[in-house]
Amino acid sequence: MTRILIKTNRIISAVLSKYKFSTAAKSVASVQIKGKEFVADDYTNVTPKIISYLDKNLHLQKNNPLSIVRQRIVNYFYSSFTHRGHPAFSVYDNLPPIVTTKQNFEDLLIPADHPSRAKSDCYYINRDTLLRAHMTAHQSELLRSGLDNFLMIGDVYRRDEIDSTHFPVFHQVDAVRSQRQEELFPDKPELQIFEPTFDKTNPHTNHINDPMKQSCHTLEATKLMETQLKTHLIGLTQALFGEDIKYRWVDAYFPFTHPSWELEIFYENDWMEVLGCGIVRNEILVNAGPSNTIAYAFGLGLERLAMALYKIPDIRLMWSTDSGFLTQFENVDLNASITYKPVSSYPQCTNDMSFWLPPTYTIDTFISNDFYDLVRDIGGDIIEQVKLKDKFVHPKSKKHSLCYSIVYRHLERTLTQTEVNQVHKEIEKAVVDAYGVVIR
Ligand code: DAH
Repeated sequence: MTRILIKTNRIISAVLSKYKFSTAAKSVASVQIKGKEFVADDYTNVTPKIISYLDKNLHLQKNNPLSIVRQRIVNYFYSSFTHRGHPAFSVYDNLPPIVTTKQNFEDLLIPADHPSRAKSDCYYINRDTLLRAHMTAHQSELLRSGLDNFLMIGDVYRRDEIDSTHFPVFHQVDAVRSQRQEELFPDKPELQIFEPTFDKTNPHTNHINDPMKQSCHTLEATKLMETQLKTHLIGLTQALFGEDIKYRWVDAYFPFTHPSWELEIFYENDWMEVLGCGIVRNEILVNAGPSNTIAYAFGLGLERLAMALYKIPDIRLMWSTDSGFLTQFENVDLNASITYKPVSSYPQCTNDMSFWLPPTYTIDTFISNDFYDLVRDIGGDIIEQVKLKDKFVHPKSKKHSLCYSIVYRHLERTLTQTEVNQVHKEIEKAVVDAYGVVIR
């Protein structure tokens, strides 16, 4: 794995349209993000380029594949868990990505010398503040606010190589589901979550020497939670990939759960890890408030799922603003099976076409699909997309007007504007002949 080395006392001085870095004094810099000033120190390694990703929220952009996968996951949890007719899970998909080291590490029992804290792996704003490296960073604060079942969805930041499957910014869904004795074992007061020998007033006596369970928990509570956790996650995987998906569970270790597992699916002739999960360490729950519940948690990466589901070959495509990419995911049925079709790397050329309709048509009776076919008939393979851009009725003349954008792109070469204009003119002529429209 290649790592970018950054000198420790680097002074960051750059001005971006939105984010400003100012150098306070030699070798002491301050970093300004969204109008907030952070004192820089020897840990500061966040760059203007990385900060520029902060507001992109790809998981919330309606025609981004990550957003489709997000909605499918949320829908699965909404429909699988209801409480008195309402979704039992609350969803947080807009939590700010700047967190403290306490949130990202300490609250989750990640030790001070754990490799995931390394400067070479995280984007630090300073020693105490970083761009969250996982969505689990919000687990304790949401538990502390009294929530018991919740999903946290957002962008996470990790220093890593850039290739077809790695990008320093990616997106995760993280979740917690907690239950009290009467929820886990309804009508079975004899079954308990906690071992009778466990001293609840001293939660730090909990230990994880036994691979089956935390010492504080009973085996029956742990096993039932494990079964529910695995059933729900397999249900989710099958809802996404279909009933026939091949999967396997692998034992894992995370500082914040015990026992822990990873789920792998068989994809393109190999096992691919899709999520991490486990039973939340009781110390985390107690520190955040609830001392009478048992919880499970999991975290999964949206990019991996979207790439596998839609056969997207390169993670960088998620950031594409090319309409040839985005329209493949626009207004689609969430559960439709979509296979990404590679867009040509030659540039697009977009020309608009506006016209007045003859009195025989209105903006509502003119059939766009017919128009699209006509455009394709004349333009052939260089037509990449045609979409309705605008429609209106003139207030005085009452004439109806439509405007379409036509995107041209050749698959093997760069089209010249003159060439495109010529084809565009021919299409205009054909539309005039076919519908009696008046080009504006
Ligand atoms: N935070 C872990 C990661 O980014 C994934 C994870 C594992 C999340 C287990 C969890 C969990 O909530 O219980 O690799």
